[in-house]
Amino acid sequence: MNLIEDLEWRHACKGMNGRKVPQNIVERILKAVSLAPSSLGMQAYKILVIENEQLKEQIFNEACLQQPIKGCSHLLVFTSYTQITEKYLDDYFRLIKLKRNPDDEWCDNYRKKIESFLERNQNNMEAWLTHQVYIALGIACVAAANEKVDSVPIEGFNKDTLNRILNLPAQGLSTSVLLPLGYRDPEKDWMNNQAKVRKDKEDIFEIIK
Ligand SMILES: Cc1cc2nc3c(=O)[nH]c(=O)nc-3n(C[C@H](O)[C@H](O)[C@H](O)COP(=O)(O)O)c2cc1C
Repeated sequence: MNLIEDLEWRHACKGMNGRKVPQNIVERILKAVSLAPSSLGMQAYKILVIENEQLKEQIFNEACLQQPIKGCSHLLVFTSYTQITEKYLDDYFRLIKLKRNPDDEWCDNYRKKIESFLERNQNNMEAWLTHQVYIALGIACVAAANEKVDSVPIEGFNKDTLNRILNLPAQGLSTSVLLPLGYRDPEKDWMNNQAKVRKDKEDIFEIIK
């Protein structure tokens, strides 16, 4: 299938049938997510991949009463760091060294650039960190569709409760958005076979020549 066909096939799946997504397919979706671009390349997020049925049931009962949470095969929880610490930057530069082996001067300059950016954006840090994870979310939706795996982004959940269940504050993380992965159940998924509601091209694009 080509990309447009994949995107026309996908929809916000409202009911999933519990069937498991094979591990090799999950791995390909996660690989695509790991290749998402991120500001300054920092990937300042962590994505929890929940398969545990009891945990999904608890999240459904206490934090998010939406059927795909328990009907899915894998629940992706997109969390972002709430602050960029010195240790985070140390680890990031260790990784850059390992992958590209730049010289120390380059590393010092790039680190200064990052630190000055973080300093300037301190008041807006949480919003900036949250934006990053939505790019990964978009890639996950597309990658899932490419594998004929259903998904639905979910923001309708109780953030404090979910963060507590997953013990995120202790790790300096907070949940931004969820993405259950699985297979549609045509009986429960009222979105199945619905026409797409999208603006006309001229209403969302303005071509400037
Ligand atoms: C950030 C975000 C949050 C969303 N939250 C929910 C949600 O909590 N529950 C839900 O059923 N759909 C949710 N959706 C799905 C949208 O309603 C859906 O993508 C939109 O109506 C377009 O329909 P389509 O995805 O089927 O083309 C969310 C989508 C996005 C991008």
